[in-house]
Amino acid sequence: MHFPTIIAAVIGATTAYAQTQYTSTGTAAVAAAAATAKTLSPVSSIKGKQFDRFVNIWLENTDYDMAAGDPGLQWVASQGITLTNYNAITHPSQPNYVASVGGDTHWVWEDWSFRIGSDVKTIVDLLEDAGVSWSLYQEDMPYSGFEGNWINHENGANDYVRKHNPLMSYDSVTSNEDRLAKSKNFTMFYKDLEAATMPQWMFITPNMTNDGHDTSVTVAGAWAKGFLEPLLSNPTFIQNTLIMLTFDETECYLCRNRVFTVLLGDAVPTSLQGTTNDTAFNHYSIMSTVENNWNLGDLGLKDASAPVILI
Ligand SMILES: *[C@@H]1O[C@H](CO)[C@@H](O)[C@H](O)[C@H]1NC(C)=O
Ligand SMILES: *[C@@H]1O[C@H](CO)[C@@H](O)[C@H](O)[C@H]1NC(C)=O
Ligand SMILES: *[C@@H]1O[C@H](CO)[C@@H](O)[C@H](O)[C@H]1NC(C)=O
Repeated sequence: MHFPTIIAAVIGATTAYAQTQYTSTGTAAVAAAAATAKTLSPVSSIKGKQFDRFVNIWLENTDYDMAAGDPGLQWVASQGITLTNYNAITHPSQPNYVASVGGDTHWVWEDWSFRIGSDVKTIVDLLEDAGVSWSLYQEDMPYSGFEGNWINHENGANDYVRKHNPLMSYDSVTSNEDRLAKSKNFTMFYKDLEAATMPQWMFITPNMTNDGHDTSVTVAGAWAKGFLEPLLSNPTFIQNTLIMLTFDETECYLCRNRVFTVLLGDAVPTSLQGTTNDTAFNHYSIMSTVENNWNLGDLGLKDASAPVILI
């Protein structure tokens, strides 16, 4: 056993409750939880400097040039601004997700069930202080607040994984039932869309097929186009909305960790559609951009110094 695993196990033993109450994957337990799990769909209308809604979509493990050559992603690029000098933080996946909402990797260095202490804040604390509504949408999560990993029970394929849910490693989220209730699946995404109960900040993770992790950039690109095309003309979704599609990391560990990233939505002026921007940004810019937009302050971590994306 590696040393951090022992630490995680010890921490786990002292505050087991928060991380174990929603992990059952048994058929009956899941059916029961799906019917009763607390689900929240908060709304708000806090005016931002650049946008009033922020949508972050993460795809998986693709080198910049592979993504830039994909037809689906070329379509996405044609709708917005491609950031040609945008860099991920590290390898593998989980620390990138963790860093993008917490301003640091917090010593998460592998794809494991790490737990970050409940005193550690995230973007969620800043959003809530300012009254900005938020939700996570994780495609095949079996029910809201689920804290485990989920496999497609028909074909055994990976579906939803904890490591691709940016907030699940933070005890400050998982020990709070109202926060867990905002970690939802795509059934809830379309319900929220239908009911016009979309939040102002959201993080979207497609399943392990659609995000390219277990498939290819071709699948991820086709998914991205298919998902985004109807949303871009949906007035419930597009309300001074900035969508940022990015990748967690490159596939190649020895290469530069430059990831293909596109800004789109009606917060991007039509005149900038299909253009590029070569300013250096990174996953911490996601936080600094959101913090700047709604005057949220910062966590005093790497979010505080990350370059802000200005459109
Ligand atoms: C999505 O989550 C909701 C709320 O917990 C649950 O009722 C529903 O069954 C889930 N949908 C799928 C397809 O798992
Ligand atoms: C991922 O979602 C798509 C629908 O968007 C579905 O066709 C596919 O089977 C899902 N993958 C798994 C492993 O369940
Ligand atoms: C590129 O982005 C930077 C920072 O957001 C901005 O200041 C600059 O105006 C942009 N350049 C173009 C050509 O859009």
